[in-house]
Amino acid sequence: MYKILLRQDLVPNIHLFKVAAPAVAKKAQPGQFVVIRIDERGERIPLTMADWDKDEGSISIVFMEVGTTTRRLALLNAGDYIANFVGPLGLPSHIEKLGTVVCVGGCYGIASIMPIARAMRQAGNKVISVIEARSKYLLFWEERLRSVSDQLIITTGDGSHGAKGWINERLKDIVDGGDRVDLVVAIGCTFMMKLCSEMTRPFNIKTIVHLNPVMVDGTGMCGCCRVEVGGVTKFACVDGPEFDGHKVDWDLLLARQHIYLDDEIRSLEEWECQNWPKT
Ligand SMILES: Cc1cc2nc3c(=O)[nH]c(=O)nc-3n(C[C@H](O)[C@H](O)[C@H](O)COP(=O)(O)OP(=O)(O)OC[C@H]3O[C@@H](n4cnc5c(N)ncnc54)[C@H](O)[C@@H]3O)c2cc1C
Ligand code: FES
Repeated sequence: MYKILLRQDLVPNIHLFKVAAPAVAKKAQPGQFVVIRIDERGERIPLTMADWDKDEGSISIVFMEVGTTTRRLALLNAGDYIANFVGPLGLPSHIEKLGTVVCVGGCYGIASIMPIARAMRQAGNKVISVIEARSKYLLFWEERLRSVSDQLIITTGDGSHGAKGWINERLKDIVDGGDRVDLVVAIGCTFMMKLCSEMTRPFNIKTIVHLNPVMVDGTGMCGCCRVEVGGVTKFACVDGPEFDGHKVDWDLLLARQHIYLDDEIRSLEEWECQNWPKT
């Protein structure tokens, strides 16, 4: 059992848990994830390691409430336990000195991009971080990202903080501004990562995306997370989650992500009916 040491509500629907997991923390690297299960009857879900403390033996995860498991997770508090917490999984991010690296994060990806931005800066790159939310009240970790970036650009859909618009527009501003960009790394919703890849493609700017297909075991055994990259089938859990955004079959990924949509909606409805008004 893995104890939740700390809970922070970052914005209304995104929460941070710091979890005691010394064996995972010992080996954690930027870009990797854990697969957790709340209890023995729960489903397994993958969550990126947003931070870790090797001395304390803890891992921070940041999750957005989207369905039954993340809603259930959000009911836990410091002092509660998570049954399974497996990791670190996936290949670590490829960190090297390239020049200028733009780190892009939306939704939960604002937290997931942080260790990568930090490592890229430590490797000697100029790091420009760009974060996106629909509105100001959904933004978090602004100062934390600023502290690991040479420049932080904020964009909101409604223009309530930073520029008005979306990340791909801010990426275009950077490129149009004449700054040489050597690499873009994007984490967040699939549609956002697709738009970023489409934006950089004509400029031939290498764009790494963190794919988030449905996963079960996270160790390459079930085949659930298969994606197509450059015409080749890959398992995102063991071959990724980082891939070349210009080579991803985005339509296939989006279609596969919605395969269980009816079941997911029914599951949430049933769970809410059974648990209301407790929730
Ligand atoms: C490598 C990786 C890292 C991720 N990191 C984070 C993170 O740091 N924070 C965060 O909030 N989310 C992260 N996700 C997405 C997160 O796993 C899903 O939001 C979560 O599984 C949804 O479960 P649910 O029961 O709450 O929602 P559901 O109602 O079951 O599903 C909502 C949507 O989430 C996706 N999803 C559902 N089940 C899974 C699953 N087992 N694996 C992957 N996606 C699923 C589907 O697209 C689905 O349509 C990551 C996904 C991957 C693959
Ligand atoms: S999650 Fe099972 S093979 Fe990747």
